[in-house]
Amino acid sequence: MSDSYRQLLDATIQHVESLKARGVRHVAVAPETLRALAQPAAKFPIANYQAQVEKQPAPLPEGLAKKSEIGNRKSETDLSLPASAATNNDVSPVQSAIRNLQSAMDKSAAFAALRERALACVKCPNLAESRKNVVFGVGSIDAQLMFVGEAPGVDEDEQGEPFVGAAGQLLARIILATGLSRADVYIANILKCRPDTPGQSAGNRKPTPAEMQTCVPFLHEQIDLIRPKVIVALGATAVEGLLGKTVGITKLRGHWQTYRGTPLMPTYHPAYLLRNQAMSEKRRVWEDMLAAMEKLEMPISEKQRNFFLKA
Ligand code: URA
Ligand code: URA
Repeated sequence: MSDSYRQLLDATIQHVESLKARGVRHVAVAPETLRALAQPAAKFPIANYQAQVEKQPAPLPEGLAKKSEIGNRKSETDLSLPASAATNNDVSPVQSAIRNLQSAMDKSAAFAALRERALACVKCPNLAESRKNVVFGVGSIDAQLMFVGEAPGVDEDEQGEPFVGAAGQLLARIILATGLSRADVYIANILKCRPDTPGQSAGNRKPTPAEMQTCVPFLHEQIDLIRPKVIVALGATAVEGLLGKTVGITKLRGHWQTYRGTPLMPTYHPAYLLRNQAMSEKRRVWEDMLAAMEKLEMPISEKQRNFFLKA
């Protein structure tokens, strides 16, 4: 194994150890990264590393510099690629794999740190007091599709996960109907805490404008890190929280909006579909999902196109 490769590897291991010490338990790694890293070290274009090391003004470690001066000893660079490969500025597959791995680890670390801040938040004293759990979000931080709801309900507060109650089960079925699963997308809410209902044993209430303003920066940061290609806003509160628009959801749904450059599709909240079982309303939500799928260039079957159309 070349010294420069070992240096890269050591730096990567150190980085992982420091993430672990900061409480990061998972890193998302692209399959191409893993494949490139799994190549045997001898096949790496070592010349590239050597050329880069030699460009650095910093001197090589003593022993190494001396060894390479020993006259007729073949150095590693001699074993490697044609001169053209040694001089081009392209990074090797391993360098780029390690870079990808490090940026994936940085993203995971930033996301974990954000979660920590949200879990410790007490900016709404009444909600911090009444909540069982802060409901941060769930899914893949590399998701192309992100769903945003309103606020945790009783089930979500209990389990610390968004959309696990009745509305969540319907949302899961909608996601499955697109060919994706809950694990492929990211799901979060405008509010991370359940709106309290003092003196009531059941029921939900809408978040107040003050609560939304206080909490929505966490969501903005989640979106900034995930950088989804499409956001689906579930219901009027999600649209209001993200876009500041208070136009009715019946007017807005089905029409593309933009959240800081990201296409956003407003649609009905699944809880609304549970209250209104009309086929026409299911079809409307489904048409919004079809539009999202098209935007993501997902394959759409004839059967999928015809969901909730009367025979
Ligand atoms: N309704 C929402 O808006 N969000 C949840 O997480 C659950 C129900
Ligand atoms: N599949 C369902 O089960 N429900 C929807 O609303 C859309 C697709």
